[in-house]
Amino acid sequence: MIRPMIHKEDLDWDESERSFELNGLRFVTVHGGGGFDDWVPGANSLLFYKTRVLVEQYLDYFASLSNPPRGGNLLELGLYDGGSVPFWFECLEPDRHAGLDIKAAKTSEYLERYLAREDRRSRISLHWGVDQTDAKRLDELCENAFGDAPLDFVIDDASHLYDESRRSFELLFPRLRPGGLYVIEDWAWFHWRGTEKSFSGCRPLTHLVNEIVELTGSTSNHLVLGVHVCSGFAVVRRGWAPADDLVEFSLDQFIYRHPR
Ligand SMILES: C[S@@+](CC[C@H](N)C(=O)[O-])C[C@H]1O[C@@H](n2cnc3c(N)ncnc32)[C@H](O)[C@@H]1O
Repeated sequence: MIRPMIHKEDLDWDESERSFELNGLRFVTVHGGGGFDDWVPGANSLLFYKTRVLVEQYLDYFASLSNPPRGGNLLELGLYDGGSVPFWFECLEPDRHAGLDIKAAKTSEYLERYLAREDRRSRISLHWGVDQTDAKRLDELCENAFGDAPLDFVIDDASHLYDESRRSFELLFPRLRPGGLYVIEDWAWFHWRGTEKSFSGCRPLTHLVNEIVELTGSTSNHLVLGVHVCSGFAVVRRGWAPADDLVEFSLDQFIYRHPR
């Protein structure tokens, strides 16, 4: 049976466009460039590090798919205050949902109450103090959360730095099932006006998206079925290569460029 998909009309935004309700949960959104004072979510809401535009881009993208992602195994990189966990759990209804963040544990009472309901403790696991580039910890985490099963969906909303994001992609993309989706959120920070100081001196994440396009061109459908790029995120759909072909997977191994 096809389960209902959350559409953007299902989100009840308040007038300020900073907070919304979904399935009885209140989310307060924040994004880089804002001040800290108005980031306090309050005892009965979840802090969600996204703008309304970004949230709607995601929901529009899923609605545009003939087979929107539902169920399966979801891995989230970058939790901040943990508010994205209930959001994705409500939207995508994963069978298993794991999240990691490099920070020490940080869950609000509201999030704890959410996690305590129904069978969520057995389906959702949060892993704090884990670096997105730590191959050993990622292996352990995937094994504990998903066993031998492949991933259906990865959302990288962690460092947004080129080296770290590329490493995560190389470690986790092979773990996706064929047809599974890998999201790189906020890839476009190098092109945002007014946030020049936040990533000053860092290599643009745009380079990783460009390289993934090169990978797509270099390998036909074998590795990448397609790439969807919008201003908020890029989504890479995994091709049919067996995981055994992708041991020690690296972009450099597969990208081909004509000699100049
Ligand atoms: C943009 S926030 C995540 C927001 C969250 N997904 C949401 O939508 O509410 C980015 C998070 O990534 C974490 N982070 C930064 N570098 C990381 C790394 N190398 N490994 C894992 N997490 C990292 C930060 O601690 C921060 O909490």
